Amino acid sequence: MARSFNLFVPVLLTFTCLFCLLCFYFVISSSSQASSNGFLQCLSDSRIPVLTQNSCSFKRQLEAYIRNPKFMANTNVKPLYIVMPTNTSHVQGTVRCGRQCNMSIRVRSGGHDYEGLSYRSVHAKDFVVLDLSQLHKVSVDSHTSTAWVESGATLGELYYKVWKASDVLGFPAGLCPTVGVGGHFSGGGFGMLMRKYGLAIDNVIDVELVDAKGRLLNKTSMGSDVFWAIRGGGGESFGIVLKWQVKLVPVPRTVTVFNVSVSTRQGAVDVVTKWQQVAPTLRDDLFIRVLVQNQRADFQSLFLGTCDVLLPVMSDHFPELKFNRSDCKEMTWIQSVPYIYLGNNSTVEDLLNRTSSAFAHNNGFKAKSDFVRQAIPRDVWASIFTKLAQPEAHYGLMILDPYGGKISAVPESATPFPHRAGVLYNIQYINYWNMASGNGTVQTKWIRDMYTFMAPYVSSNPREAYFNYRDLDLGDSFEVWGPKYFKRNYPRLVMAKGMIDYDDYFHNEQSIPSPKHGYLMQRPEALSSSF
Ligand SMILES: Cc1cc2nc3c(=O)[nH]c(=O)nc-3n(C[C@H](O)[C@H](O)[C@H](O)COP(=O)(O)OP(=O)(O)OC[C@H]3O[C@@H](n4cnc5c(N)ncnc54)[C@H](O)[C@@H]3O)c2cc1C
Ligand SMILES: *[C@@H]1O[C@H](CO)[C@@H](O)[C@H](O)[C@H]1NC(C)=O
Ligand SMILES: *[C@@H]1O[C@H](CO)[C@@H](O)[C@H](O)[C@H]1NC(C)=O
Ligand SMILES: *[C@@H]1O[C@H](CO)[C@@H](O)[C@H](O)[C@H]1NC(C)=O
Ligand SMILES: *[C@@H]1O[C@H](CO)[C@@H](O)[C@H](O)[C@H]1NC(C)=O
Ligand SMILES: *[C@@H]1O[C@H](CO)[C@@H](O)[C@H](O)[C@H]1NC(C)=O
Ligand SMILES: *[C@@H]1O[C@H](CO)[C@@H](O)[C@H](O)[C@H]1NC(C)=O
Ligand SMILES: *[C@@H]1O[C@H](CO)[C@@H](O)[C@H](O)[C@H]1NC(C)=O
Ligand SMILES: *[C@@H]1O[C@H](CO)[C@@H](O)[C@H](O)[C@H]1NC(C)=O
Repeated sequence: MARSFNLFVPVLLTFTCLFCLLCFYFVISSSSQASSNGFLQCLSDSRIPVLTQNSCSFKRQLEAYIRNPKFMANTNVKPLYIVMPTNTSHVQGTVRCGRQCNMSIRVRSGGHDYEGLSYRSVHAKDFVVLDLSQLHKVSVDSHTSTAWVESGATLGELYYKVWKASDVLGFPAGLCPTVGVGGHFSGGGFGMLMRKYGLAIDNVIDVELVDAKGRLLNKTSMGSDVFWAIRGGGGESFGIVLKWQVKLVPVPRTVTVFNVSVSTRQGAVDVVTKWQQVAPTLRDDLFIRVLVQNQRADFQSLFLGTCDVLLPVMSDHFPELKFNRSDCKEMTWIQSVPYIYLGNNSTVEDLLNRTSSAFAHNNGFKAKSDFVRQAIPRDVWASIFTKLAQPEAHYGLMILDPYGGKISAVPESATPFPHRAGVLYNIQYINYWNMASGNGTVQTKWIRDMYTFMAPYVSSNPREAYFNYRDLDLGDSFEVWGPKYFKRNYPRLVMAKGMIDYDDYFHNEQSIPSPKHGYLMQRPEALSSSF
């Protein structure tokens, strides 16, 4: 790759020099139309594949990776072009053309961003989407238990290919198989293995990144602050992560899955109240999360072992669940992935379906997140269940993911993801609506009211939020959302931003600001005392 890159450089420079003149000419004629024409010309001279709004497949390609249909509405600003790179030099060339022609770039891997920031712009402004969906190779080395995975791969493709190489290796990342590696890893990434093995980013060894100058950098050449920042601080503020080298983790040949449902009439309020104390303190290889919806709590679990071993653990620690052998489903780890997320009829091959979705395609949604550090009292849980019974929350849901184990053992400053020791569990609130019958106004209001109601019972100063559950309600001010997503890590993110993209070329509605905007420039150690 290095050799073809070197050959490519002179050609690229020749073209870009020509076209920087062109762009410059059009820019001073102050027409954004001309600037976008210059950008297109620059791409075409570098033979970089691109779709314009007139291309037959533009709409199909744009919508193929829109995971929240509320952003398909015409009211959202659409990209001028979709760039479709098939190799590294296309990505480098796109950044160089973008810089020269003052065209901003949104990078999209799997398109699951909760606010759609990988393919839309809230502030009306010209931009293009750099769509990485064709860069999705996964190469597994089972001898060293490592893999290189390109950002455009889905989690399902990663899990499947790891399994093809070795049935005793896995990887700790999210549950939804269509989530893209690029966004997921750069924002943290957790799933059913997080208590045993931590986050996806806790298992990243190296990366390849294209920076705002179009350079291809690795862990060493980007420097330790930038390598730290892109593992949880969001890749989009720093560059384009092309691929990740990860450490794979051992999984046993037999795992046990269960889904035990308790209705409010059967005592769900008590069992959830108890769960808060139990789930974060169980052995690391037992993960029990809760889905609270429709007046019941579904306790969904992955245990890295057999039913025989699990049964006494459950009766010793959580007898309230009335768990018994008939609740156990033993299978392989790879079978558990589609089983848990896509249902009991799904197969391992379904993991390769890049566009399948567990959700009906026409459901818009709004989501928010919280972290809980002190168990919520029983009477509050009773009120929560009552709020979930309101008609606006007919498709409302809370997902509780327990912490403890490895995820909480990693120091807060080891990665930008700061929600570690002391967190009992994470809450995700989601409310859905059918796009055919509503615009989501009442459902969005319900979730915001719920968030207000929960304030006294969740983390505070700052009220923590998970970066991968992006929420523009947290506001425009970095001083507000920075500490929520990153706690004391946020000044170091500004510093890393200054090192790699001082000009703030890589920018979106919630990107890390450059120190040039007057944000903190000191090293974070010096700042700690001021929090
Ligand atoms: C149905 C669903 C299920 C989910 N389940 C989980 C889960 O189990 N666990 C969990 O932790 N999270 C989960 N998430 C959240 C998910 O981790 C984030 O939305 C994640 O950012 C999605 O990554 P993506 O590549 O699919 O998204 P995209 O929308 O493509 O990207 C998200 C953000 O990252 C940026 N980005 C994307 N690729 C790159 C790149 N290569 N380089 C630099 N920046 C990049 C984008 O510009 C955008 O700002 C889920 C989301 C959905 C919609
Ligand atoms: C990328 O593809 C182009 C053809 O579109 C080719 O000219 C170039 O050499 C390739 N670059 C690399 C690094 O493979
Ligand atoms: C670049 O574009 C932005 C908006 O997209 C505009 O505010 C800025 O003035 C432009 N810069 C130049 C040099 O044209
Ligand atoms: C990173 O890049 C540098 C410079 O290109 C190179 O010398 C080094 O070997 C690379 N490191 C790794 C781990 O690949
Ligand atoms: C868990 O059980 C409940 C109640 O039987 C059911 O509605 C739900 O679909 C199940 N969930 C999964 C993932 O199997
Ligand atoms: C196991 O639990 C189920 C309901 O969860 C119940 O129907 C069954 O009778 C129980 N079996 C035993 C042996 O207790
Ligand atoms: C699974 O398949 C069976 C038979 O093919 C069907 O009866 C059942 O409804 C399916 N279950 C789900 C959850 O899709
Ligand atoms: C899946 O579960 C449904 C009931 O929820 C059942 O009817 C069906 O037989 C199950 N399918 C398989 C393949 O186990
Ligand atoms: C959404 O729908 C409601 C009722 O149908 C309507 O009152 C409201 O104005 C709509 N809001 C938007 C933003 O379209």
